[in-house]
Amino acid sequence: MNNPFNYSNFVTGRCFCNRKTEQEDLMEFIRSSQNVLLYSHRRTGKSSLIKQVFLNIKQNSPEIGTLYIDLYGTTSEKEFITRIFQQLSVLETNTDKLLKLLKNSIEKFSFQISVEPGTNLPAITPLFRSADENLVLKNLMGLLKKFSKKRKIVIALDEFQEVAKYANADLFEKNLRSYIQQHSNICYIFSGSQQHLLTAMFQSQSRAFYQQAASYPLQQIKTAHYIPWMGKMFDKGNLSINNRDLQAIVEHFENHPMYIQLFCFFLWQELQRNSWNDQTINLIERAMIDQKHLEYQTLWDNLSINQKKTLKLILINEGQNLFAAEALIAVNIKTASIVTRCLKTLSEKEILVKNGKYIIQDLFLKKWLALNAQL
Ligand SMILES: Nc1ncnc2c1ncn2[C@@H]1O[C@H](COP(=O)(O)OP(=O)(O)OP(=O)(O)O)[C@@H](O)[C@H]1O
Ligand SMILES: [Mg+2]
Repeated sequence: MNNPFNYSNFVTGRCFCNRKTEQEDLMEFIRSSQNVLLYSHRRTGKSSLIKQVFLNIKQNSPEIGTLYIDLYGTTSEKEFITRIFQQLSVLETNTDKLLKLLKNSIEKFSFQISVEPGTNLPAITPLFRSADENLVLKNLMGLLKKFSKKRKIVIALDEFQEVAKYANADLFEKNLRSYIQQHSNICYIFSGSQQHLLTAMFQSQSRAFYQQAASYPLQQIKTAHYIPWMGKMFDKGNLSINNRDLQAIVEHFENHPMYIQLFCFFLWQELQRNSWNDQTINLIERAMIDQKHLEYQTLWDNLSINQKKTLKLILINEGQNLFAAEALIAVNIKTASIVTRCLKTLSEKEILVKNGKYIIQDLFLKKWLALNAQL
């Protein structure tokens, strides 16, 4: 049997552990066309959850149309609009019908059609030469509204924080919101991980998306859900591990979906050669950290001296009470304002996230620092 664990892409089906409540909650939002903001720290499983829910819809409620848009890497309104256009064939798979609909609905600008090699589905690319973005956006949103008159639609805008980085973000957000508000039969799932950007978009009164979506923070997967899921996966490969050891794995990686999946991938390989013993977790973890050594060393070398000290401060104090005089003296930082500045920069670099206390987002970086940062 092939290694069933996967840590580099979204997971669905048997690789997807539980999240039953979250799947039901999202379905509720979808059924009631309530827009929702799904957010969490990096690699917690947002995209996987959306994909799993869309898969369920395909199987059990095919009357609902699903559109998954990955906005990662888009740098402008044009690219945002183009990404959605290119997915439209998912809502209308019949090419002739799609073309007819486009011809009847689109005014004052042209588009190109090509066939996607992988899927053989048509991909539409709007041509902005002859029209401004607002007009193309208006047409696109009108088209979506038309689709939603026939059936309920759910549109996931994954990595939505990218929008906040576009040059004309403020205006674009305003325009987008005004159309979205008219889409009463569409549920929008805004999803992303850069919390400082998303929070600013949805929680600051001056922004267009202020309180425009129900807030849904995605938590880690519960230990009680992990144990039977992992147990079943290993059993299938005749590599049984007892529940106590499974629990130790989950707790060691703080219930984090990606790290647990990653660890299980290597554990599966290890158990092909050696049986489980008391040192297994540490051995595999050490090998995994060593693999990342070069990457982390480069990251470390590129930090300023005060940023390095601030990371040490966080490690020593577990992210809390960072401004106490003794804490600052212990790492040789002169003033609290230096810490404030470094916390801001490290958060912008996504090395740190704040969740009540400051957390080093990458669990392995945290472990690497503990081993290498001469504390
Ligand atoms: N329900 C799940 N069961 C098991 N593993 C999961 C689950 N959800 C996510 N994972 C693991 O976490 C990894 C990251 O998942 P995913 O890409 O969905 O997270 P994300 O929150 O969208 O990440 P990003 O912040 O990078 O967009 C997956 O490759 C998988 O290894
Ligand atoms: Mg994602």
